Amino acid sequence: MSRRIAAKITGVAGYVPPRVLTNAELEKMVDTTNEWIMERVGIRERHIADKGVAASDLAVEAVKNLQAKHPFDLQTVDLIVVGTVTPDMMYPSTACLVQHKLGIENTWGFDVSAGCSGFLYSLNVGTKFIESGQYKRVLVIGSDVNSSMTDFTDRAVCIIFGDGAGAVMLEPAQEGEDGIIDHVAQVEGIGGQYLYMPGGGSLHPASHETVEKKMHYIHQDGKNVFKYAVKKMAEMTERVLEKNKLTGQDVDCFIAHQANRRIITATAERLGMPLEKVIINIDRFGNTTAGTIPLAMQTALEEKKLKEGDLVMLAAVGAGFTSGATLLRWAY
Ligand code: UT7
Repeated sequence: MSRRIAAKITGVAGYVPPRVLTNAELEKMVDTTNEWIMERVGIRERHIADKGVAASDLAVEAVKNLQAKHPFDLQTVDLIVVGTVTPDMMYPSTACLVQHKLGIENTWGFDVSAGCSGFLYSLNVGTKFIESGQYKRVLVIGSDVNSSMTDFTDRAVCIIFGDGAGAVMLEPAQEGEDGIIDHVAQVEGIGGQYLYMPGGGSLHPASHETVEKKMHYIHQDGKNVFKYAVKKMAEMTERVLEKNKLTGQDVDCFIAHQANRRIITATAERLGMPLEKVIINIDRFGNTTAGTIPLAMQTALEEKKLKEGDLVMLAAVGAGFTSGATLLRWAY
């Protein structure tokens, strides 16, 4: 009987651009305070890319860091999946640009557009290609340059977002290893009206009018997104646990999308997970959209909160609305 091929993460690395934007600097740009941002969102500082630095550049740096930590032959990469909502351009895809910049000769790839769930959805897709038995090495990347679509006069938005990327390598698990166990995911397009970037697509192509009306910036109804995120992250994590006859107490490490500290801690509380099992790095990086989960995996490893054999819960809610939760057994 042929065994089920599971996928496992065999390496993770992140990259953030060097320039740091602190709350103190934001206090000089918009009507806000460090206290408000820390209390309502939990961010102290975020990293911002220099002009001309795009999502593919952050992605390439993340892959280089991955290679430095877990050496592998780039030419053996079968597939590149990039989660992003800030691609360098409408097309070619960021995956094509990453392939070219890294000089990987015989591979293919594509982008996944799922807002803040972009990395999780990319991971789900990459996992299926390993599980099919067709591929042995899939690079899954989350990369976003949110500053490229942030209105730095809108205090409700500019304090939240940062730029960053992360990359993981997916490979077949050994016999007996669980690897990536299961996922649930859902889109609810009714949420499109609460978080979106209206300009630049086929509905509102760029024009003087779209620029004047600030349609190339993030538009967010924070309160509605917040309410949905708190409810949905709990629902998705409970759903994947129940499906696998597990409870929050079985989870060793909870790595959630970093949008607001309060969304993460509310979910952990609902699942009965103590805070020491919850990874939080939003204070240093802000919301990097598709970059948050791999950056948080890196934080978990650095803080020694993640080790071989741990049951890990990943979760995200984002623009769309998109949401998902993934269970996996950490493999190294
Ligand atoms: O990754 C997925 C995408 N995004 C999210 O998940 C974000 C979800 N939403 C949130 O995290 C929160 O809703 C925000 C952080 C965006 C806002 O926090 P909030 O506690 O929901 O604030 P609010 O929108 O209800 O605003 C409360 C007050 C308002 O003033 P008034 O009307 O009560 O006088 C806002 O104008 O806070 C004001 N406010 C600010 N004050 C100081 C909004 N932004 C700021 C600010 N500094 N930066």
